[in-house]
Amino acid sequence: MTLKSLIRTIPHYPKEGVQFRDVTTLMKNPEGFRRAIDLLGERYRDQGIRIVAGIESRGFIVGAALAHHLGAGFVPIRKKGKLPAPVIHEDYELEYGLDRIEVHVDAIGKGERVLLVDDLIATGGTAEAALKLIGTLGGVVVETAFLVDLPDLGGRRRLEALGHKVFTLTEFE
Ligand code: PRP
Ligand code: ADE
Repeated sequence: MTLKSLIRTIPHYPKEGVQFRDVTTLMKNPEGFRRAIDLLGERYRDQGIRIVAGIESRGFIVGAALAHHLGAGFVPIRKKGKLPAPVIHEDYELEYGLDRIEVHVDAIGKGERVLLVDDLIATGGTAEAALKLIGTLGGVVVETAFLVDLPDLGGRRRLEALGHKVFTLTEFE
């Protein structure tokens, strides 16, 4: 059993032409989900990570499990209008639309070591916006980690060109 084989593909979702890589089938598999979190946990053990920041919504599932594994705190990076206290925001473009993400202004302290996680990187627009938010708060991003990379959409190259480190567990053409 490979992690990749546990990820289901839904053609033409949410719109014509998009091959949607559905990680819920990996997450519901007990061995698969544990293996994914353990692999990330091993990589980031002893790296002094204080905060795992996860991007709404599937990034919350990966991020919270990983934060627990690492003994780190968890910070949610949310879609617009969901967080109760004062926020900063970034707008970004998706493979299929426009959106805004926000983080609480007091979520990350200056110099805190942060791991940014999400389920998947496509164009990298969401992750780049999240990195800007963390940077604005003064967080030090150790690496960005994803279950799935869609290399044809260029997200990894985009983040690496900005000087960020990217780690992914699987890729789909
Ligand atoms: C998906 C995925 C990433 C983002 C990747 O989230 O979970 O967050 O798209 O795309 P990008 O690299 O092109 O920015 P989506 O916006 O569909 O939200 P969801 O997790 O709430 O379904
Ligand atoms: N987010 C952006 N593109 C995606 C895709 N092809 N599959 C799943 N999530 C995505």
